Amino acid sequence: MAVVCKSSNEIEKMRKSGRILRQVLNAVKAVVAPGVSTMDLERVAEKKIRDLGAKPAFKGYYDYPCVLCTSVNEQIVHGIPSEKRVLKSGDIVSIDCGVVLDGFYSDAAITVPVGDVAPEVEKLLKVTEDSLKQAIEQMVIGNTVGDIGATVQKLVEKNGFSVVRDFVGHGIGTRLHEDPQVPNYGTNGYGTKLKEGMVLAIEPMVNVGKPGARVLDDKWTAVTEDGSFSAHFEHCIAITKDGPVVLTAE
Ligand code: MF3
Ligand code: CO
Repeated sequence: MAVVCKSSNEIEKMRKSGRILRQVLNAVKAVVAPGVSTMDLERVAEKKIRDLGAKPAFKGYYDYPCVLCTSVNEQIVHGIPSEKRVLKSGDIVSIDCGVVLDGFYSDAAITVPVGDVAPEVEKLLKVTEDSLKQAIEQMVIGNTVGDIGATVQKLVEKNGFSVVRDFVGHGIGTRLHEDPQVPNYGTNGYGTKLKEGMVLAIEPMVNVGKPGARVLDDKWTAVTEDGSFSAHFEHCIAITKDGPVVLTAE
C-alpha cells in the first residue's frame, strides 16, 4: 500500500490527538507505584481518554480487549492489563496507548520504573529512550527509513543490548497502522525515502539480552525468549520542511 502524506491541516489534527495522548500517559505514569495493578492503570487511562473527549485506539483493534498495553519486565509489548498483575519495586512497566480524535490516530509508549530498579535496568530505559531521540533527529526530508533503524540499532548495540526484530514502527494517520513499516534496525541509505507530510510512529523495543521474542498463549503478550527485561518508547513524528515535529511530545 502507498504511503499517505498529510497536509499541514491534517498534521495539526494529529497534534491535537497526540497532545491528548500525552496527557493520558502522564496521568497513568503518575499512579505507577508498588501495589498498583496493571488494571488500575487501564482504568485511569480509559477515564482520562473519555474525559478529554477522545476515543481509545487499541480497544477492539483485532479484538484487543483494553485501551492500554501494559508490558511488565520481560514482556516486550502487547501485555494485557490484569487485576492479578500487581507491580512491585524493581519492576518496569511499558505503557503503550493510542487515541483517536476527529478521525486521526496517535500512538505512544513510555517505560516507567516501579520503586527502585537495578542500575542495568535504569541504563536500559535511558538507552531505549535515547535511541528514540536519536532516531527522531534522522527524520528529515531525503533521509530513509533505513537511517532511522540504523541509528536505533547502533546506539542499542553499542551499549550491549539488542533490538527486537519481530515488531516494528509504522505510518499512522486515519488508521493506526499505515505504510511504511519502520524496523528498529537497518542500513543507512536504504528503504523508503522520507517525504514532507509523512507521519511515522517510531517505537524501539530493546532487550537486555538477546533479540528473540515469543507470544504467550493469550495470543497478545510478547516476551523475550531469554527472560531478560525489555523496554519500549514510542512517539508519533511528522516530517516537515522545518524538520521533525514530535506530535506526542510533552
Ligand atoms: N504501539 C503498538 C503498535 O503500534 C500498539 C498496538 S496494540 C493493539 O503495534 F492492541 F492495538 F494492537
Ligand atoms: Co505503534
